[in-house]
Amino acid sequence: MRIQMLGMLLGMAMMVSSFAGCGKGGEASAEKEPQKTQKDQVEDTEQKEAAGEIVGLSMPTQTSEQWIKDAAAMKQLLEEKGYEVKVQFAENDPGLQGEQIRQLMEDGANCLVVTAVESDSLTEVLTEAKNQKIPVIAYDRLLRDTDAVSYYAAFDSQGIGRQIGTYIVENEELEALKRSGESRTIEFFMGSPKDDNGLFLYAGVMDVLQPYLESGTLECLSGKTAFGDTCIEQWSKEKAKERCQDMLQEFYQKKDLDIVCTAFDGFAYGVREALEESGYGLDAGSKEWPLITGQDAELMAVKNIITGCQAMSVYKDTSLLAETCTALVESCLTGKSPKLENRTEHDNGVKVVETYLCKTEMVNQDNYGEVLVESGYYSEDDLK
Ligand code: GAL
Repeated sequence: MRIQMLGMLLGMAMMVSSFAGCGKGGEASAEKEPQKTQKDQVEDTEQKEAAGEIVGLSMPTQTSEQWIKDAAAMKQLLEEKGYEVKVQFAENDPGLQGEQIRQLMEDGANCLVVTAVESDSLTEVLTEAKNQKIPVIAYDRLLRDTDAVSYYAAFDSQGIGRQIGTYIVENEELEALKRSGESRTIEFFMGSPKDDNGLFLYAGVMDVLQPYLESGTLECLSGKTAFGDTCIEQWSKEKAKERCQDMLQEFYQKKDLDIVCTAFDGFAYGVREALEESGYGLDAGSKEWPLITGQDAELMAVKNIITGCQAMSVYKDTSLLAETCTALVESCLTGKSPKLENRTEHDNGVKVVETYLCKTEMVNQDNYGEVLVESGYYSEDDLK
């Protein structure tokens, strides 16, 4: 029944319907300049570049490496295109984020790019932006309960959940275990309940793992498999560590924990500390180190993958998302429809938001060199 409810929720969020794109002030952009030639449009773009408009970036925190990289990639790209960029990090404080967005507007931002600390906490300030005809783009996290959002640029979190689930199925050989009647223990550490990505990722994980929980091939000794029982507020590493300590203490005295399915590299770090304190390790005398998953391919996570402390992560190429978002900024400021692929829609509770999703890749010991080093995301030196 839980999964059915989840399906309904996700169905609502993914609801497809036809609607207009944004222009400044959120109006249909494509209809604004119907009769312009391509040459006119190029000239318009050049004028825009020379105008030095201001883009305000509101990021959730610097405690997660992802946002620092995202901000840097966005800033560089936008500056190359002639925009002035002002960046604020809200340090996971939704109130502070509201104030910072107001400040960005006062500082003259012509367009706002926002990754919310809590997706539904910015309704008021975003209405102020809309009233001032400042377009808003949701970056990586959907902005909920507001009609002031023009576009959403993100990764496919449900797909990421499936990548994580599939990794577990393949690497723990769950099909073979199922046939032989064996089982593995598993615990789940899912994302923030105030961030749609958390629920989407969970749904993807469960798409793949639910049958193995039902057949008993995966045993969750805590019984905590519902999203509400596994989500961790504000994606906190510390809370993940505490939760893991409690789990190990309460449920894993007789049996060891074999798999830790986490939704974020930060959780994997917290889990690692808790496991080490409980006698798990990579050396022969310790309890066998579990398979730990993650998301973001942070530098520390990749180092942990190399040493075997973390099994895998999901690489979200910040420059890909920055490119997508920059194209959306330009669309908002020029009033032209974005020329981007992978268009889809997300219902944010008030509005169906035009969405562009970027691809992700699973990384582990076998492919990190090819995926992360050859692409230039990290250098060999970074990983030492
Ligand atoms: C999510 C994002 C994840 C991770 C997490 C914590 O919104 O999708 O990749 O970065 O925030 O920062």
